Amino acid sequence: MTKMIYILNGPNLNLLGKRQPEIYGSDTLADVEAQCQSVARECGLDCALFQSNHEGQIIDTIHEAREKAAGIIINPAAYTHTSVAILDALNTFEGPVIEVHISQVHKREAFRHHSYVSLRADAVMAGFGIGGYSLAMRHMGALLG
Ligand code: DQA
Repeated sequence: MTKMIYILNGPNLNLLGKRQPEIYGSDTLADVEAQCQSVARECGLDCALFQSNHEGQIIDTIHEAREKAAGIIINPAAYTHTSVAILDALNTFEGPVIEVHISQVHKREAFRHHSYVSLRADAVMAGFGIGGYSLAMRHMGALLG
């Protein structure tokens, strides 16, 4: 059976393409999904993209991933810097976890330099624009291959 990768996106990423394009670029989350689907096909993986502005919904989807996914790619957005609950949920997941940030968070405000999710992530991408998601998908292929 083809392995499923969940690509989870946190708050405000539904506005990708419209939101601060000077930081996050003009591509949309639909473009992210199309790129990831294409790399997933190349790597013999399946993927499903989710976005939520609600912490609890992200946690519920991580719990669902425990049953349905072999790996998680997550851009927790602002929850990266605040959410022990998302870290705890990721700690219940057994497969590889890759954290993605579109912007280079370490070049930005100090509050963006700390990530709770990095305490669990097996790899972290920051500053590759939306290309970070497809690079993460390729790395997922290598990890699960
Ligand atoms: C982000 C960086 C976060 O600091 C910010 O809150 C986001 C997006 C990124 O993809 O660069 O919403 O995760």
